[in-house]
Amino acid sequence: LFALSILFLSSAASHSLSLKEDSNSSPFPPNFLFGTASSSYQIEGAYLADGKGLNNWDVFTHKPGTVTDGSNGDVADDHYHRYKEDVDLMEDIGVNSYRMSLSWTRILPKGRFGKVNQAGIDYYNRLINLLLSRGIEPFVTISHYDIPQEAVDRYDGWLSPEIAKDFTYYADVCFKNFGDRVKYWITFNEPNVAFIRGYRIGIWPPGRCSGSFGNCSVGGNSEKEPFIVGHNFLLAHGSIVELYRTKYRKIQGGKIGLASHTMWFEPISNSTEDKMALERAQAFYMNWFLDPAIRGDYPIEMREILGDDLPPVPEVLKRIKPSIDFIGVNHYTSYFVKDCLYSVCEPGLGSTRTEGSALTWAHVNGRTIGKPTSLDWLFIYPEGMEKIVTYIWERFKIPIFVTENGVGWKEEPNLTIEEMINDEDRIDYVRAYLDALVTAIRKGVDVRGYFLWSLLDNFEWTDGSQIRFGLHRVDYDTLERTPRMSASWYKTFIALHGFGP
Ligand code: NOJ
Repeated sequence: LFALSILFLSSAASHSLSLKEDSNSSPFPPNFLFGTASSSYQIEGAYLADGKGLNNWDVFTHKPGTVTDGSNGDVADDHYHRYKEDVDLMEDIGVNSYRMSLSWTRILPKGRFGKVNQAGIDYYNRLINLLLSRGIEPFVTISHYDIPQEAVDRYDGWLSPEIAKDFTYYADVCFKNFGDRVKYWITFNEPNVAFIRGYRIGIWPPGRCSGSFGNCSVGGNSEKEPFIVGHNFLLAHGSIVELYRTKYRKIQGGKIGLASHTMWFEPISNSTEDKMALERAQAFYMNWFLDPAIRGDYPIEMREILGDDLPPVPEVLKRIKPSIDFIGVNHYTSYFVKDCLYSVCEPGLGSTRTEGSALTWAHVNGRTIGKPTSLDWLFIYPEGMEKIVTYIWERFKIPIFVTENGVGWKEEPNLTIEEMINDEDRIDYVRAYLDALVTAIRKGVDVRGYFLWSLLDNFEWTDGSQIRFGLHRVDYDTLERTPRMSASWYKTFIALHGFGP
C-alpha cells in the first residue's frame, strides 16, 4: 500500500497540470460542477434484486452473441450493494457533483402496468441522501438507454408513441420522490446513439436494421424507422418537461436537460461543399434532437433531404420551446467529414441520404484525425472539444454541461497491479480535453460543469466489461476497486483549479 501511495504521489507531481497559469487560480466559473458520470445498467448489477423488473438491456445481453466478451450487467460493479464505498471514492477525489442514472425497472418493474417498487425508491433515496451529506450534487438521468421489457413486449417500445405515456408516468414518480433534492435532471441519454445503433445498424437492442444498413436478423425495415423512433422519443421528452414545468418546477426549482452524444466533424478540405457537409453531418447526428428540443423544429438540412419522410415535430415541443434549460454534451472523439451530395463518395458511415449524404469517418484518403486508440471509434483530438462546445453555444445559446468525457481500453493480459493502474494515457487525454474546454470557456462559451466518464471500470455495452474507462480499476472476480494514477491526478486537478476564481 505504502509503495502504491508513493507511486500516486510521484505520478501526480510528474504530470504538471496543463492549465496555462501554474498558480492555483481557476479558469472555471463560480459554482462549476466537477464530477464523474455513470449509468445504472453499467454499474449497479443486482439485476433481479429486491423486486427489480427486467429491462431491454437485461434481455438483450442474455442473448448469445450480443456482447463481444459474453459479459452482461447482471453483476457489473455491484454498485447497488457497494454504493457507500463508491461515494467514499468520490469524496476522496473531491468532486462536488455526480452524474448517475436511475434504473427504470428498479422503480417500476413493469413500467406503468404495475406497482411502484418501494425497495427501488428506498435505494435511490439512500444514495441521493448520502451524496448530499458529502456535499455532492446529484445530476440525474431518468433513463440511460434502459426501458422496461414490459414496454417492449406490449407495444414494441420506442416504435410506439405509447412509450411517451410510460416515460412520463415514470418521470412523474421520479420527480415526486426525488425532486425535493435533485435539482438537475436529464430526460434521456444520447437518443442519437441509442436509435442509430438500435434501429439502423442493429447492434443494440432491439437489434433492428433499416434500409441497406447493418447486418441483423430483423433487417430490411424502412429507412424511416429511426426517425419514427426519434419522433416518439421527442414526444416523450416534451411530455416529461411539460409535466415538470406545470407540476413541479415552481416548488422544486430544478433544471432539465438532454444529453447528446457529440462529435466534431472536421471538413476534409476548405471547399464550400465539405463545409456544407459539416452542417449536414451535425444535422443528422446531433441537431436531429437538439433542434426540435430547443427550437421546436428539425434542422433545415434534414427537412430538405428527407421531406415527407420526416415525422412531424410533436406539438408539445412547439408549446414549450426551448424545452431544455441546459445541453448535456457527451464528447470523446472527432471525425473528418466529406461531401457526398455534390460529389461521389465511397460507401461508408454517413454517406447515405438518411445520414445527410456526408461521409464521416476517422480515416479518409489515408488521413486520420487525431491519435488512434485501441477503441476503433475513439480518436484523440482535443481541439474537437473546443470546437464542438463553441459550435453548440453559437447555435443554441443555452448553458452547457460536459456530461461525459473520458477514454477506455482493453487491459493487456498478465500485467502487474502497478501496470494495471498506470494510466498516464488517460491523464494525458483528460488534461488535453480539459485544456481545450478552458480555451472555449475563456472565449465566452457558457460551460457550467464537467463529468469524467467514469469513476469505475464498468460494463461498456456491447463491448462488455473488457473495456475499462475507470479512474478506478475494478477486479471483476473480487469486485475490488483500486485507484489508478488518474484518480489522484483528477483529485489534484480539482483541488488546484476546480472551484471558481
Ligand atoms: C457514452 C455513453 O453514454 C456511456 O454509456 C458509455 O459508456 C460511454 N459513452 C463510453 O463509450
